[in-house]
Amino acid sequence: MSTASLSAPINSALRRVPSWVIYLAGLIPLAWVIWLTLTGGIGVDPVKAIEHRLGKIALWFLIGGLAITPARRFLGLNLIRYRRAIGLLAFFYIALHLTAWAVLDMGMLWGQAAADLIKRPYLFLGISGFVLLIPLALTSNNASIRKMGRNWRRLHWLVYPAVGLGVMHYLWQMKVISIEGWLWLAVFSLLMALRFCPRSA
Ligand code: HEM
Repeated sequence: MSTASLSAPINSALRRVPSWVIYLAGLIPLAWVIWLTLTGGIGVDPVKAIEHRLGKIALWFLIGGLAITPARRFLGLNLIRYRRAIGLLAFFYIALHLTAWAVLDMGMLWGQAAADLIKRPYLFLGISGFVLLIPLALTSNNASIRKMGRNWRRLHWLVYPAVGLGVMHYLWQMKVISIEGWLWLAVFSLLMALRFCPRSA
């Protein structure tokens, strides 16, 4: 059985799924984190756990977003119309992750936040990834796509260094890279290789 015959029914089923369903489904992990926090199931160090969970959810969405083009090219799976939703959800979770650090962890004490940035330099990598994603989030609307034309595509190449910085930030904060960390790195590297391998290959 070819990938085309497998992907065709999935693509036709997906055509009936509007984008708002993806936005709504994308909020389920947040609801889960809130539920765990309110019911005391988040763990002994809630601030750290909230921070970590939000970071991990953001990573899932970032990597999921990167998988969309290779999924179409190699599996015939067409998820392109959900790319904006997945990208914006990733950005939303990174913004929450950053807010959790600034508000819950640092208590909005900016001197302490600055000291934390110096103590944990991998935070700079995360912040840099987030900063690169800001113009992408701001121009993810139809008006910007129309107005910017080819420049929009050029600008959106920033997603690759942004995710790369996010992955490096994640690995570095581990100190000793776990199997899970190596797996994330392997998936990111594979997606990059698939994305940039020449068409004739
Ligand atoms: C592309 C953007 C980012 C991604 C993908 C990302 C992802 C992650 C992930 C996956 C973790 C570890 C979660 C776990 O071990 O379960 C983490 C930890 C963390 N991130 Fe981010 N992050 C990003 C940006 C940021 C930003 C902007 C900040 C704000 C300063 C930040 C602050 C932190 C902190 C404080 C930790 C915990 C580190 C520790 O416990 O030592 N991250 N991040």
